[in-house]
Amino acid sequence: EKTIIKDKLTRPLRDLRISVIDRCNFRCQYCMPADQFGPDFEFLPRSALLTYEEIVRVANIFVQLGVEKIRLTGGEPLLRRDLPTLVEKLAQIDGLADLALTTNGVLLPKLAWELKKAGLQRVNISLDSLDDKLFGKINGRGVAIGPVLAGIEAAKQAGLRIKINMVVKKGLNESEIIPMAKYCKANGLELRYIEFMDVGSTNGWKMDDVVTKRQIYELLEQHFELEPVTPAYYGEVAKLYRYKDQNINVGFITSVSESFCSSCTRARLSANGQIFTCLFNGNGHDIRNFMRNGATDEQLSERISTIWNGRDDRYSDERTAGINNDRKKIEMSYIGG
Ligand code: GTP
Ligand code: 5AD
Ligand code: SF4
Ligand code: SF4
Repeated sequence: EKTIIKDKLTRPLRDLRISVIDRCNFRCQYCMPADQFGPDFEFLPRSALLTYEEIVRVANIFVQLGVEKIRLTGGEPLLRRDLPTLVEKLAQIDGLADLALTTNGVLLPKLAWELKKAGLQRVNISLDSLDDKLFGKINGRGVAIGPVLAGIEAAKQAGLRIKINMVVKKGLNESEIIPMAKYCKANGLELRYIEFMDVGSTNGWKMDDVVTKRQIYELLEQHFELEPVTPAYYGEVAKLYRYKDQNINVGFITSVSESFCSSCTRARLSANGQIFTCLFNGNGHDIRNFMRNGATDEQLSERISTIWNGRDDRYSDERTAGINNDRKKIEMSYIGG
C-alpha cells in the first residue's frame, strides 16, 4: 500500500535519485574541475558509503511513500563495484515503474549487458561534443569521444533505452549544438540540451555563461522543423519537441531560463546516506547513522515523511525571481545532478 505524502508546496514525492559514489573518472569543467578535484581531494571513504543492503532498505521505504522512479547517479555510478547487484535488488521492488541510470558512458561496454539483465530499463549518457579535442578539454581527462560512442552502442545492443545529455556552456561548445542534433537524429537518440547551472561552488558559474533554451531553439529552427511534445507525466524535467520528419525527440532542461520547481517531485540520497530535498540545498538529513543506530523501518519511514513534509525548496524559481539565496550549496559530483 502506497501513501502519498506532500511537501509544504503540495508537491508529491515521486522520484528518488540515488548517488552511489562521489568519485568520477572524468573531470568535467562544469562539474568537477580538475584543479579543484585534484589528487589530494578527499572523497568519501568506503566505510562512509551506504551498503547495498542499506540502499535497498531506504529505497523500499521511499517506494512505499510514493516514489515510482529511481535513478542511480554518482559521481560516475559505474565506478561503484558490483553495481548490477544493486540494480537487481532495486528492480525487484514492488511498485517501482522506472529504474534508470545517469552515466558518462565509458564503462558501458563492460557493464551494459549485465545491467540490463539485472533489470535496468534505461540510461542517460552525457556527451557534450563530437570533437575529440574539445571533448577531451571539457571532460578534463583528454578522453576522446570513441569510448563514449562505444558505450552508447553497448547500451543499444543490450536493449537499454537511451537519452543523451549535453550541457551547453557559452564560449565552450555552442559550435556542437547542430552537429550533436544531427548525430543524435541520425542515430535515433533523444538529445537533451542542458542549461549550464549554478550548482556547487567550484565551477565558477556566471549568468553570462548560460546558453538558454531559446537561443538553442532558434538555432535548431534554422536547420530542422520541430513541433512541441506534450509532457509524458507531471513534473517531467525536460521540455520536449519532435522532428517533424522523424519520430525522434529533442529536449531542453531549462533550470535557469524556465525553472520547474513548482512541479519538482525529486528527493536525493547521497552516497553517504544523507537526504537532500533540493539540488541546491546543502542541508542534508542524515539517515545512515539513524539506520546504523538501529532505527526500525517504521521510524525510518516517519523520518523521511517528516523531511518531505517540511520541504519548501524552490531554488531555481527563487533565482529567477531575483531572491538572494545564500544557503550552503552541494557539489554536483557529490549529489549526482
Ligand atoms: P529523465 O528521467 O530521463 O527525464 O532524467 P532527468 O533529466 O531527470 O535526469 P538526468 O540525470 O539525466 O539529468 C539531466 C539534467 O537535469 C542534469 O543536469 C540534472 O542536474 C538536471 N536535473 C534533474 N533534476 C533536476 C532538478 O530537480 N532540478 C534541477 N535544477 N535540475 C535537475
Ligand atoms: N549544469 C548543468 N548540468 C550539469 N551536469 C553536471 N554539472 C552540470 C552543471 N553545472 C550534468 C551532467 C550530467 C547530468 C547528471 O548533470 O552533464 O548529464
Ligand atoms: Fe563525472 Fe558526470 Fe561530473 Fe562529468 S558531469 S565530472 S562525468 S559526474
Ligand atoms: Fe527541485 Fe530544487 Fe531543482 Fe527546483 S531547483 S527543480 S526545487 S531540485
